[in-house]
Amino acid sequence: MGRAYKVVILGGGVAAGYAALEFVKHGINRGDLCIISAESVPPYERPALSKGFLLPEGAVRLPAFHTCVGVGEERLTPKWYKEHGIELVLGTEIVAADLTRKTLLTAAMETISFQILIIATGARVLRLEEFGVTRADAQNIYYLRDVNDATKLLEAMILLKGGKAVVIGGGYIGMECAAALVTNGVPVTMVFPESHCMARLFTPQIATFYEDYYTSKGVVFIKGTVMSAFESNQNGKVAAVILKDGTRLPADLVVVGVGIRANTTLFEGQLVIEKGGIKVNGKMRTSNSSVYAVGDVAAFPLKMYGDVRRLEHVDHARKSAAHAVQAIMTPEKTSDYDYLPYFYSRVFTLSWQFFGDNVGDCIYFGDSTKGKFGAYWIDKCRVVGAFLEGGSKDEYSALALVARQRPITEDTEALAGQGIKFALSL
Ligand code: FDA
Ligand code: NAD
Repeated sequence: MGRAYKVVILGGGVAAGYAALEFVKHGINRGDLCIISAESVPPYERPALSKGFLLPEGAVRLPAFHTCVGVGEERLTPKWYKEHGIELVLGTEIVAADLTRKTLLTAAMETISFQILIIATGARVLRLEEFGVTRADAQNIYYLRDVNDATKLLEAMILLKGGKAVVIGGGYIGMECAAALVTNGVPVTMVFPESHCMARLFTPQIATFYEDYYTSKGVVFIKGTVMSAFESNQNGKVAAVILKDGTRLPADLVVVGVGIRANTTLFEGQLVIEKGGIKVNGKMRTSNSSVYAVGDVAAFPLKMYGDVRRLEHVDHARKSAAHAVQAIMTPEKTSDYDYLPYFYSRVFTLSWQFFGDNVGDCIYFGDSTKGKFGAYWIDKCRVVGAFLEGGSKDEYSALALVARQRPITEDTEALAGQGIKFALSL
């Protein structure tokens, strides 16, 4: 007979850390809670990996960024888990789950039982092999999801001296890693299929500002195309990236960020899956009443918009985790999760935040030449989304309020003129 717990959190990422803190705030008994993680370190603030971790000077290292320092809360070190009687089962991959028997099976064939399971398995990176790219097993090709990946990338970057990097993908990982590489003195070429960077969120106009900035830092953009193969040298190291049209880009190091897939495999056939994630209700409860799902893996009702979404961002991981714990510990006091989408990034000395939904028409304001500009998205005469580069704390809070309240606006010209003042006046 293996170990048994009242609550098991499967996954040891951002959501797991914030769930643990919330359990302690609610007063969970010693020995009732266990976190199982494939990673060998306790939960940490994953966003640091593509930012502070890769800096040439003043870089952050664990244990400095364990959860929950990202929101100014306690830093949960191994000692903290011990003090609160929370079992950390690290370096342990779960290879099978039986939700009827309420058991999980580790790769070492140990069975761990639960009464309540919180699935916080996050996501895995999509690999170029999945797109049919050949020689994708060459050395010096890096993906970035966990601290081991980040450490390998960092070491390769330090050893690179004089070498060139190619970044595949124009999303978050591509943009943040390209900035980190350039900051470390590595010349970068970025390749992605869309006509502009960050195509899931940015409009062409917003993207132009960032692309121009990156270009001024020496980044070369190759847009509207994909790669078909890698070329490696006699040592098995990557030597070049070959694009679909045959163009050869010399490369000594490659960073790939071509999206992710939620880690749902263990539960397929046992739980309802929707939009690539595990479907939950407003309490983060899945189709099995003893099982909850939070963070990147959860497809949840986005109450404000009346639809189901899966979000791959840290703020939702933190809040959905806390919400699931509240629903478990104080069900009578817990209403439905009512999340306002919030995304952000920081690169070089730039910093932007976005709140709400990027649907409808975009109204721009501010002066991008001065490094401070923004946009409102208007859908059916309501301001539904708001973006700002270079804002202050108060201005970002005001934008969040706009996206939450969705005020009616008919005079878009006046809105553009008012800019951030519109948000601050609400
Ligand atoms: P997360 O991925 O954090 O954790 C999943 C955990 O489950 C991992 O520990 C994994 O090992 C474990 N696991 C999975 N399957 C398992 C199994 N079978 N057995 C055992 N363990 C298993 N977002 C944002 O809003 N702003 C930002 O700046 C950034 N920056 C950023 C940088 C980088 C490099 C990445 C990779 C991601 C970001 N993000 C981000 C996204 C953000 O980090 C992400 O949304 C959260 O980490 C999601 O938290 P979860 O806990 O859901 O998954
Ligand atoms: P993403 O979804 O942000 O971007 C994926 C990119 O892959 C697309 O923009 C596209 O340019 C590119 N792409 C797709 N197919 C391609 C192909 N065949 N060849 C070349 N490029 C291709 O995903 P990501 O950048 O890989 O990030 C992974 C995860 O990490 C996401 O969940 C993201 O939200 C998260 N993350 C978030 C932040 C942040 O919020 N600041 C920072 C880093 C990572």
